[in-house]
Amino acid sequence: MSILTGLIGYPVAHSKSPAIHEYWIQQQGIDAEYKLYTTPPQRVRQVVKRLRDKGARGFNVTVPHKLAVMEYLDEIDETARDIGAVNTVTFKNGKAIGSNTDGYGFITNLREGVGDLSPYLSKVVILGSGGASRAVLLALIEAGAKEIFLTNRTHESAQTLSSSARDIKKTANIQVVDWEERASCLSEASLLVNATSLGMEHQPPLVLDINQLPTTALVHDIVYAPLKTDLLKQAEARGNRTVDGLGMLLYQAQKAFSLWHGVLPAVTPELRARVQG
Ligand code: ATR
Repeated sequence: MSILTGLIGYPVAHSKSPAIHEYWIQQQGIDAEYKLYTTPPQRVRQVVKRLRDKGARGFNVTVPHKLAVMEYLDEIDETARDIGAVNTVTFKNGKAIGSNTDGYGFITNLREGVGDLSPYLSKVVILGSGGASRAVLLALIEAGAKEIFLTNRTHESAQTLSSSARDIKKTANIQVVDWEERASCLSEASLLVNATSLGMEHQPPLVLDINQLPTTALVHDIVYAPLKTDLLKQAEARGNRTVDGLGMLLYQAQKAFSLWHGVLPAVTPELRARVQG
């Protein structure tokens, strides 16, 4: 019988995840499928139960269910607990286990883009403190970021994120900066990460003056639609090295695939092209 995997979310119809997983399923010669489950909030419990009853191997979870799904699982692994959200569920020995592969996706993408990340970890500026930023912040602390400046439109949520990250990693050096002051904390920065939804298709633009950012800094945008955001264009025009956000999507999927199928599939240029197309 074919191995069942898939994605729950609301909406999910335009997700790129089936293209990614189907590429690897074919490449690995595995008899498996990856299905989309459009799941309104009131149906999360039912859909999780149905997938369990059907003997699914696991499923991904996207917006808006990454928190809500946790209540229907038997175990949450340490990374997902730290991040406070689940994006991958694996059924193993009758148990539904929640994991979070977003931080892995983020940091692996950055490493793949620049090789050695250590020259970029002295002063890190993160824009945003929403769902994605939590995984980004913890992954950067884990990677050894020395000084982190966190700025978000809603100051309070940046404060909350910073103190909960400090609870998890006591040594973390995080300073919260007012959103209005975001341009001024760029001086001497070695890495700038946009972890907001600003600059994404159908979202407002990211308004940020990057003149104070050293040209040696690495600039990363987790937004991948468009692939080359205005932030990345601006950064490239002044000579900054950049990494786009598509790899975060690909690498979080890579880890989920390995949790389900026991092999770490390759992120190839062909896969990137397919997902962009
Ligand atoms: P995600 O899961 O993609 O992180 P999210 O949790 O909704 O989505 O977070 C969106 C991020 O983009 C937040 O940091 C949000 O700032 P607020 O916490 O103030 O909402 C930020 N964001 C969204 N729209 C914004 C806007 N118009 N101006 C500034 N920041 C914005």
